[in-house]
Amino acid sequence: MPHVLILGGSWFLGRATAELAVAKGWDVTIFRRGRSESGPDPAGVRTIHGDYADARSASDLAARGPYDLVVDNLAFTPRDTLAMAHALSSVAQKYVVISSVSAYKGWPTEPLTEDSFTLDCEPDAGPDPGYDADPGPSTYGFGKAGCERAVLRVFGAAGSVVLRPGVILGPGEYVGRTAWWLARMRKGGDVVAPHPADRSIQPVDVRDVAAFALTAPTGVFNVTATGMDTFGDFLDACQREAPAPTGTALHWVPPETLLAHDVHQWTELPLWRTYAGAWDVDSSRARAAGLVTRPIAETVRDTAAWLADGGALVTSERAAELGLSPEKEAEILADHRRRTHGSDAR
Ligand SMILES: NC(=O)c1ccc[n+]([C@@H]2O[C@H](COP(=O)([O-])OP(=O)(O)OC[C@H]3O[C@@H](n4cnc5c(N)ncnc54)[C@H](OP(=O)(O)O)[C@@H]3O)[C@@H](O)[C@H]2O)c1
Repeated sequence: MPHVLILGGSWFLGRATAELAVAKGWDVTIFRRGRSESGPDPAGVRTIHGDYADARSASDLAARGPYDLVVDNLAFTPRDTLAMAHALSSVAQKYVVISSVSAYKGWPTEPLTEDSFTLDCEPDAGPDPGYDADPGPSTYGFGKAGCERAVLRVFGAAGSVVLRPGVILGPGEYVGRTAWWLARMRKGGDVVAPHPADRSIQPVDVRDVAAFALTAPTGVFNVTATGMDTFGDFLDACQREAPAPTGTALHWVPPETLLAHDVHQWTELPLWRTYAGAWDVDSSRARAAGLVTRPIAETVRDTAAWLADGGALVTSERAAELGLSPEKEAEILADHRRRTHGSDAR
């Protein structure tokens, strides 16, 4: 029975990974500080408390090995990841670092494959490396690129798995993107939706990332959905899972109108981004290595069920930034009607 060490493990992706590994009958150790707001420990795991940035915690983890696999959800500051990887190098066979598509120089403006350039960041960089631009690089993305290099430096190509997920949705999603759209549908009335409805999107289900993290071979992999689903599919699923007693009418408003009203991409209309590369990430390498992703309708259905079951883990500060205010939505719709004389194209 493999022994997996999950750095993190109680909130969203780490939690899904721990639950899946327990379900497979693996021996599962998670590592966290123990803060109650990050959720209870998943059932069936062994928990080690400590802080990722603390060298004593890293040597404590090493002493509790060996591990067949380490899955690192806490790779944000390269020098901490470098120290953790060093500490675990003699007791772990394989190190999976959860990076992000944000590690790419070209995200979200260019189509991406694993061969696209990543941001320049040293493997021993401190907190908040690089800079933030919109659209474009972020300190988060620089940090992820540096953490990838840290793991590769210590574990080499033969022992490293670098996973670059795009947006992750599903039960436990703490950013609150799906939750906002479900709540908006449940409220009913006239809803601003970002035209075109047939734009393909690639959010990946947390359970699919977790499954791949436990089984991926060594290498570097983008982890996104196929792009077969569209924004229309996503909002149709939200409407289905959160029907409004008074009815809901979607109005597909063109990007020019949304931008004229200064609608913030990504946050005010969660998941809406105009940039060509935002949903153009090639995941064929991961698919050939075993990644299977489910349709967005299933992700929305299960997120709605999780929320209905009391899954109120939307504690992230980022949740407060999400969504259009009713006043702004009404202004946009009035302008949209003026521009189109009331007719909507999907
Ligand atoms: N969400 C997305 O759309 C998305 C997209 C791409 C990549 N990612 C990446 O996916 C990864 C998954 O994150 P997650 O939040 O879902 O993972 P998670 O493992 O489910 O939750 C975070 C865990 O880390 C623990 N923790 C936080 N700071 C710690 C520290 N300094 N030392 C020890 N433990 C600490 C928390 O517990 P305590 O508070 O008790 O310590 C919690 O158990 C991240 O690396 C993220 O960058 C996410």
